[in-house]
Amino acid sequence: MKIIAKEVIADCPGAKIVKLVLASAQISQKAQAGQFVVVMVDEKGERIPLTIVDADSQANTITLIFQVVGLTTKLLGALDVGDTLYALVGPLGQATKIKKYGEIILVGGGVGIAEIYPVAKGLKAAGNKVTVILGARTKEALILEKELKSLADKIYLLTDDGSSGEQGFTTVVLEKLLKKDKHDLVYAVGPIPMMKKVSELGLASKIKTIVSLNALMVDATGMCGCCRVRVNGEVKFSCVDGPEFLADQVDWEELEKRNSMYRVKEKHICKLKF
Ligand SMILES: Cc1cc2nc3c(=O)[nH]c(=O)nc-3n(C[C@H](O)[C@H](O)[C@H](O)COP(=O)(O)OP(=O)(O)OC[C@H]3O[C@@H](n4cnc5c(N)ncnc54)[C@H](O)[C@@H]3O)c2cc1C
Ligand code: FES
Repeated sequence: MKIIAKEVIADCPGAKIVKLVLASAQISQKAQAGQFVVVMVDEKGERIPLTIVDADSQANTITLIFQVVGLTTKLLGALDVGDTLYALVGPLGQATKIKKYGEIILVGGGVGIAEIYPVAKGLKAAGNKVTVILGARTKEALILEKELKSLADKIYLLTDDGSSGEQGFTTVVLEKLLKKDKHDLVYAVGPIPMMKKVSELGLASKIKTIVSLNALMVDATGMCGCCRVRVNGEVKFSCVDGPEFLADQVDWEELEKRNSMYRVKEKHICKLKF
């Protein structure tokens, strides 16, 4: 649980993104694409879920990439090489089904780009043709561009301000691609409005579309019920049944409501401690 390496990979207004390499022999041996860990920075801190972006079973390390958005990510981002986390649990969640589908489009928005990286890597290694669409606010926040360029067959870059790639939204490019050619799978991670739109586009084109949900979690072992989401009319626990689900079956309105449940308190707590 010791921090072996740290890099601030983006630091611009509205997006500070940090990469940490952590020593964890057990998690690095077992981690699969699509899984996550739960991190506690200190004894009294909350637990937060973060995707395992990379795992090196030779070096016994895992890599996490996170955006500083509130108290816990601020505390985590303030740690340095040599510091130790209070607790690290994982790998958690169902792994991505890695197999040959054919032609796949992966869509990553904001820090969701970090979450699509291990999936893109696995799907490419399984022999799929991989197209990647990445979107961020600005050029600085467009993370893992080099890494994804080196594995993707085709890559589209978009920024809100046009500072890198085209100006606009990932979903506009997705819509064009789905209209133009036949694809076998769409996989998306990013802000809820982006994933909801991706879901609508996938459904309209009758293409299997998978999303990895960012439901609020507490224990992340299926015991507290905090991460419940409605999928195909049934209640599912995102931590053990997900975090991936078929996009068109997700009740997006309910997810949005549940995720904003503590927004006022989160802002207040963050201000109090810093
Ligand atoms: C399976 C999964 C994988 C994730 N992977 C990544 C990742 O690789 N990189 C990354 O930057 N973020 C990831 N997240 C989101 C990350 O967990 C939140 O950004 C983090 O918990 C924020 O905590 P905070 O105290 O800094 O912010 P807060 O101020 O407490 O919250 C800010 C926002 O973060 C979300 N959030 C807060 N607490 C939780 C929680 N316990 N569980 C889930 N979401 C929460 C809420 O949307 C909230 O409005 C993932 C979430 C899930 C569910
Ligand atoms: S986080 Fe508690 S059941 Fe999923």
